[in-house]
Amino acid sequence: MKSLKLAIFASGRGSNFQAIYQAIEEGKLNARIQVVISNNADAGALDFAREHQIPALHLSRNQFTNASMFDLELLRVLREHDVNFIALAGYMKLIRPQIIREFHNRILNIHPALLPSFGGKGMYGHFVHEAVREYGCKVTGVTVHLVDEEYDHGPIVVQKTVPVYSEDTPEMIANRVLEMEHVAYAEALQLFAEERVQIQGRRTLIRL
Ligand code: GAR
Repeated sequence: MKSLKLAIFASGRGSNFQAIYQAIEEGKLNARIQVVISNNADAGALDFAREHQIPALHLSRNQFTNASMFDLELLRVLREHDVNFIALAGYMKLIRPQIIREFHNRILNIHPALLPSFGGKGMYGHFVHEAVREYGCKVTGVTVHLVDEEYDHGPIVVQKTVPVYSEDTPEMIANRVLEMEHVAYAEALQLFAEERVQIQGRRTLIRL
């Protein structure tokens, strides 16, 4: 088993990042968080990282004259911190091809619904849970998937369901899903740490 040397990309409060950190602390996930990167200087994820002595960087496309310079700097930072795996944890930006090529099948994303439903551009955060409620779904859930060049599209690694009740508000659905996200993300990462994930086209096979 190889320990994952993780970069966490997060745009917001970073509860998934915190859950990953917790799973490592509890010995449930064989990984080390090398660096946390956010496109948002005020992200809670950066505060949590700094409080826990994890290198934390605000890096955004807006700081660069073009996208490839931004990608080059991202790659430089990832190399400098000896990263071998990336976890997108509430990261609201598209990862461009150069990074995807360099970390081929080594980038995971978590999405707060059962893909391929309720995914794609513009489907994030509360929009997802509002759409699930409006559609009248009886279940929703979490998808952890590999990242390719389209939003919410790469091979699925872990999915878990939660019920939707008729009296639920979008916030109630979001909270139920989030609790499940915190379990699912560490579980998916641990499958990679144990080298149990085989990728065949758009399907993953998980070795027992
Ligand atoms: C999570 O619910 C995550 O699934 C979602 O953003 C939230 C981030 O919360 N991601 C997306 O919607 C991506 N399409 P967190 O900052 O507390 O981890």
